[in-house]
Amino acid sequence: MRTGESTSTTMSGPVSSGTGNGDPQRADWWRSAVVYQLYIRSFADGDGDGIGDITGIRAHLGHLRDLGVDAVWINPWYPSPMADGGYDVADYRAVEPVFGTAADAALLVDEAHATGLRVLLDIVPNHTSDRHSWFVEALAAEPGSPARARYVFRPGRGAGGAQAPNDWRSVFGGPAWTRVTDPDGTPGEWYLHLFDVAQPDLDWTNPEVVAEFESILRFWFDRGVDGFRIDVAHGLVKADGLPDLGVEEKGLLSPADRDDHPFWDRDGVHDIYRGWRKVADSYPERRVFVAEAWVSSSHRLARYVRPDELHSAFNFHYLNTPWDAAALRRVVDRTIATLAAVDAPPTWVMSNHDVVRHVSRLGRPQAVDGPAPYSLADLPPVETLDLELGTRRARAAALLMFALPGGAYVYQGDELGLWEVEDLPDRSLQDPTWERSGHTDRGRDGCRVPLPWSGTASPFGFGPAATEPWLPQPAGFADVTVAAQEGDPSSMLSLYRSALALRRTHPALGDGTLTWLPSAPGVLAFARDPGFTCVVNLSAYPVALPAGADVLLAGGPLAGGPLAGGSELPPDTAVWLATDTLDG
Ligand code: NOJ
Ligand code: MG
Repeated sequence: MRTGESTSTTMSGPVSSGTGNGDPQRADWWRSAVVYQLYIRSFADGDGDGIGDITGIRAHLGHLRDLGVDAVWINPWYPSPMADGGYDVADYRAVEPVFGTAADAALLVDEAHATGLRVLLDIVPNHTSDRHSWFVEALAAEPGSPARARYVFRPGRGAGGAQAPNDWRSVFGGPAWTRVTDPDGTPGEWYLHLFDVAQPDLDWTNPEVVAEFESILRFWFDRGVDGFRIDVAHGLVKADGLPDLGVEEKGLLSPADRDDHPFWDRDGVHDIYRGWRKVADSYPERRVFVAEAWVSSSHRLARYVRPDELHSAFNFHYLNTPWDAAALRRVVDRTIATLAAVDAPPTWVMSNHDVVRHVSRLGRPQAVDGPAPYSLADLPPVETLDLELGTRRARAAALLMFALPGGAYVYQGDELGLWEVEDLPDRSLQDPTWERSGHTDRGRDGCRVPLPWSGTASPFGFGPAATEPWLPQPAGFADVTVAAQEGDPSSMLSLYRSALALRRTHPALGDGTLTWLPSAPGVLAFARDPGFTCVVNLSAYPVALPAGADVLLAGGPLAGGPLAGGSELPPDTAVWLATDTLDG
């Protein structure tokens, strides 16, 4: 399709060169990769116990191949009491029996590779489960013993040590310290847990901890795993003496006004990752890392991806940006510039298992100044939600994200346009946030509801017919199953497939850079070399498209009528254009 001969030419200015997506087999595949986040518990259930598993993943690799992603990142699959969805790891070298066996894992890695997908696992170095053998040993050992020195045990303050060692709060609410009872029944030391009570923090000043994690990396690399997502990568190192924080803070995000935070984003973490990089680089086939680091700025983030550290990091500043052209342009520019300075590829992400699904964020009134909220407790109330609007914007946002230089992350269900399930019954809630916040924050379960694959009623093909999924699926999932969307060219799934197929073959997409084009207020327009332009209309009015451009892909119907050749881009719509054919 060719846009009409109408009005303004928005094309001008030089285009800078991109390296394109090229051959997916090449060593720097990760610089352009689209990584699919696979939340194993909710992806597909092979054995009918209501919980997703490795057999389920193996049965659906075809979905990932057809979608056109380059890699999967699988959330923790290790043995775990599941106090925090598997982020409480009891044994880093094994597979949780509910998810499968070591043999299943090996088959999955092989089959994924045969399908052309790389496999990233999730490593959780900040804390273990309280059932990890190290912690069990620590509890049985004396204060001051080597077993306790793997964790952060301290005597309490005040009379009889009855008060916590400092004022730090858990990310999930409540104090970050819990007092243990000694084997003789008397109250003992306190241990630090930045997250749940069942997630004791490790002491990264202890060389045994450093050596153990390098050995865990090798364990999985030796089994063909291509890389790791690093959980809470900015939290491992704590300030000497564990000083009080002095203020009440919430969440994972390192605050901007503080460059010496006692537990977030401390300089010491970088030595750890330099060691990890050496481990990865000791393998002939590329092994990669992506950091989960909620740090205050792109500059701070760039420190994690310096040439001798990690390969990439999630761009949460992008995730936190409201649906606003100026704000998005600022974050894109800042990201590209700061990461280029350390020769790391930008990455883009809209959703994950910790934040409200972006369909439900974009369908609400947008923050005017500053970052957009991403947790249910901080968002405007559900009464303000317009799902249709959120879905339309999500389509435009997907085309924007996949056109930007670098890599991108898709959270399972994004490709189906899933929304946050905000009305889960209280009794179903499993996120520790719900209990630890005294039932004031419903937590993250609403974005973790099992995927709908087919059929018209729960379990929607998530598991065998009688399966009761671990979180209830809403009836509305019937309209958005993979099967329902597959044959529909106007579905979210079709849009994702088309966009990712184009991204694989178009030489302008993936790693590289972009050039902004002049555009009306509220409109983002950029060119990528060779011959590619993306235009996103975030304004309230239709805007004219450049005359004579070939439409490669449109996020929604174009306006302007047949006479004008569909030359207008409606609000909240994006389009990809082939501009090497442009007139003039
Ligand atoms: C970040 C993970 O994404 C989240 O799900 C988890 O609760 C915390 N880290 C603690 O491991
Ligand atoms: Mg199962």
